[in-house]
Amino acid sequence: MLSRLELLFSINVTGMKKSVIRELLKLTQKPDIISFAGGLPSPETFPIDQVADLAREVIREDGTWALQYGPTEGDPRLKEAIAGFMATENIRVKPENLLIVSAAQQGLDLVGKVFVNRHNPVIIGRPSYVGAIGAFRSYAANFIGVDLDDEGIRTDELRMLLKQMRLEGNLPKFIYTVPDFQNPAGVTLSLKRRQELLALAREYQILIVEDTPYRQLRYVGRHLPTLYELDEGEGIVISIHTFSKILFPGMRLGWVMASTPIMEKFIIAKQSMDLCTSALSQAIAYEYFKRGWLETHIQENIALYRKKRSVMLEALEKYMPGHPEISWTKPEGGLFLWVTIPENIDVDRLFYQALEANVAYVSGTGFYTDGGGKHAMRLNFSYPSESQIVTGIQRLAEVISGNLDI
Ligand SMILES: Cc1ncc(COP(=O)(O)O)c(C=O)c1O
Repeated sequence: MLSRLELLFSINVTGMKKSVIRELLKLTQKPDIISFAGGLPSPETFPIDQVADLAREVIREDGTWALQYGPTEGDPRLKEAIAGFMATENIRVKPENLLIVSAAQQGLDLVGKVFVNRHNPVIIGRPSYVGAIGAFRSYAANFIGVDLDDEGIRTDELRMLLKQMRLEGNLPKFIYTVPDFQNPAGVTLSLKRRQELLALAREYQILIVEDTPYRQLRYVGRHLPTLYELDEGEGIVISIHTFSKILFPGMRLGWVMASTPIMEKFIIAKQSMDLCTSALSQAIAYEYFKRGWLETHIQENIALYRKKRSVMLEALEKYMPGHPEISWTKPEGGLFLWVTIPENIDVDRLFYQALEANVAYVSGTGFYTDGGGKHAMRLNFSYPSESQIVTGIQRLAEVISGNLDI
């Protein structure tokens, strides 16, 4: 039977790859290692006592609802609270255009399921969030990468690409982007680029998938409008949001906003995935909103992460060797920054030397579908403590310095 198993697997899973990042993360679990590799929020931010009290209260007072199956669309009370939250972002969203999902990752899977036929072209950034690549890959998307720079996805490159794809009769279904403090590169799509992206999507009649888990975690600079807001209800943008980074990921709770015809398909697709998102998680999140705790909590997260970001940037400035080919992004928010290293250093090989020196990162290669990223790495600053950040960067800088003349 085991030998026949390969023949029994569906074509969809045959194309799936084990996440290289997850495999490498296993190596970073040794106690002495300072890891910049994960993408986890800091557990110091988790409102454990508040949530413990709320969970008890919700189950006691609302248990017949909270422990039951819920509507696929989501708990109407939570949807209303989220719509209020979105109004603070200048977004007026009707309940029928908002779907509660089992966190952003489910939103990405829904997009794949509803839009991607085998080998359909999909445009992603170079680099891109590995979980989105995985989600779309499971529907056998054909990835076409567009470079990023300090202002996010390069719309000049995109313009030429779309023109070419139209000539070939092979336009993509959508462009996937993380406009705010992108994972992994930490860059933010500028206002001009947001407008250009929308104009291109309009011109070529394709969709934009905006994935924005870090949006509320801005430490410096000015807030920019979401692509969903700039779309002004035209229905070009699917906007994916989550509580994972602003509250905690264990609830597995997020929301998607899209036009009504898209939403109808998402609801049908979600029914076959999980019937509904956990009613218990939704009831707890609703109570958290109702008490007005979310805003305070976000402000506390911002204060903590802003400090950690500064500590990492200062340490990089202080310890990284001065070299024309070494640079790093200066994210205005989020959890990551992106370090570029000289062309003569292979970041996958350097990884093992870094582990020997008790420091870990994620190699850039995991965020590309075309073999790119060999001279770049993603560093996370939310999880390690401030002193670990300083020591870890010192170690990393030494490992890089030791490879400069090879
Ligand atoms: C860009 C991006 N999208 C989606 C997700 C998935 O988040 P969630 O926990 O809401 O599924 C992450 C998680 O790190 C992410 O960075």
